[in-house]
Amino acid sequence: MGLDVAIDLGTSRTRIFLPNKGIVIDEPSVITVNLENNNIMAVGKEAYMMLGRTSSRMDAVFPLNGGVISDFGLVEAMISTMMKRVVSSKIGMPRAVACVPSDITEVEKRAVVNAISGAGIRKVCLIEEPVAAAMGAGIDISSPHGSFVADIGGGTTDMAVISLSGIAVSRSIKQAGNVMDEEIIKYVKRQYNMLIGKRTAEEAKMKIGCVVPGIITGRHRIKGRNLITGMPMWVDLDASEMVEPLRETAETIVSNIQDILEETPPELIGDIYTDGIVLTGGGSQVAGIDTLIRIATELKVTIAENPSDCVVLGCGQAIKYIDLLNKPDRGGINPITDHY
Ligand SMILES: Nc1ncnc2c1ncn2[C@@H]1O[C@H](COP(=O)(O)OP(=O)(O)OP(=O)(O)O)[C@@H](O)[C@H]1O
Ligand SMILES: [Mg+2]
Repeated sequence: MGLDVAIDLGTSRTRIFLPNKGIVIDEPSVITVNLENNNIMAVGKEAYMMLGRTSSRMDAVFPLNGGVISDFGLVEAMISTMMKRVVSSKIGMPRAVACVPSDITEVEKRAVVNAISGAGIRKVCLIEEPVAAAMGAGIDISSPHGSFVADIGGGTTDMAVISLSGIAVSRSIKQAGNVMDEEIIKYVKRQYNMLIGKRTAEEAKMKIGCVVPGIITGRHRIKGRNLITGMPMWVDLDASEMVEPLRETAETIVSNIQDILEETPPELIGDIYTDGIVLTGGGSQVAGIDTLIRIATELKVTIAENPSDCVVLGCGQAIKYIDLLNKPDRGGINPITDHY
C-alpha cells in the first residue's frame, strides 16, 4: 500500500502535503552545494539562511526560475531530501499530484515530472496552478459556474477563469514577488546609493510593502553597503516609499487581469460579476494589491484565507482524482493529467 502526496514546487517555496497529516513541508526552494565535491550541504530553510553568505567553495541557489526548473539536478536533489524528511522509505513509493504554471511547454512539464520521479515517486500527475489554487481556496471547480482566480507567487502570477474543471481563459506572467524584490533593490540603490541583498529586500516587502499610498504606515530598518564609501550602512525605509518600486509590477498584474476579463465568454463573465475575483499566493499579501484590482475592474476582490497554502491544499484535494484517471465516465472532466 503506497502513500499519496501533493507537491507545490514553487519558485520561492516548496510545499508538501500528506493526506491525514496536512502540510508537512513548507520551506524556501533553496539548495546549497559544496562546489568542491558537489555534495548537498543544505536544503530549504537552512539553505535560505546561507543565501548571499556563502564562501567561494559553496553556492546557495534557487533551482527554479519564473515557475520553471532552471537546474534539473538540483531540483531533483531538493525534492528527494525534503521527501526523505517526511516519508519513510519503508512505506513505499507514493503517487504524487504536482502543479505547474498554466502555460509552460511540454518539455518544461516533463522536467517537473522527471525531477519528482527521480525522488522515488512512481506516478506523477500534474494540475495547472490556478486550478489547484481555486480548489485550495474552496471553490467548486467542477460546477458550470465561472470563477476568476489569480495566484500571485514568487516567480509567476497565474490568472485563470475556471469552469467545469477546466480553464476557459488563462495567462501566466513572470511578474510576481521576485520582480518586486528586484525593484526594491534598484530603488534603494537609486535613492540611497546602497546595495542590499534579495533577502533584505523581501523582508522589507513583507513588513512594509504596499502599492497604494497610505494603506499601511511604519518604518523598517534595512542594512547594506554604501556604494560610494564601500562601508556598511543602514536606512529606515518608510512604508510610503514602497509604492514607487512595487507599483509597476502590481499594475502589470492588474492590466493582465483586465485583458483576461475582456477575453472571457459572456456567460462566465456574468458569474464573475456576481462572485468577484479570488487572490491566492504569497504575493497577494502585498498591501493594497486587492484594492488596485478592485478599483480597475469594479469587481469584488477577496484574498483567500492562508493564500500561500491554497495551491498545495488544492493539489492535496486533487489526489482523489488519481483513481478516476482512466475512468472518463466516472467523475466528469478530470482536472489532473497523467504522466509516466
Ligand atoms: N506577507 C507577505 N507580504 C508580501 N509578500 C509576501 C508575504 N508572504 C510571502 N510573500 C511573497 O510571496 C512570494 C511567494 O509566494 P508563493 O509561496 O505563493 O510563491 P511560489 O509558489 O513559491 O512561486 P510560484 O508559484 O511563482 O512558482 C514571495 O515573493 C514572497 O516574498
Ligand atoms: Mg506557487
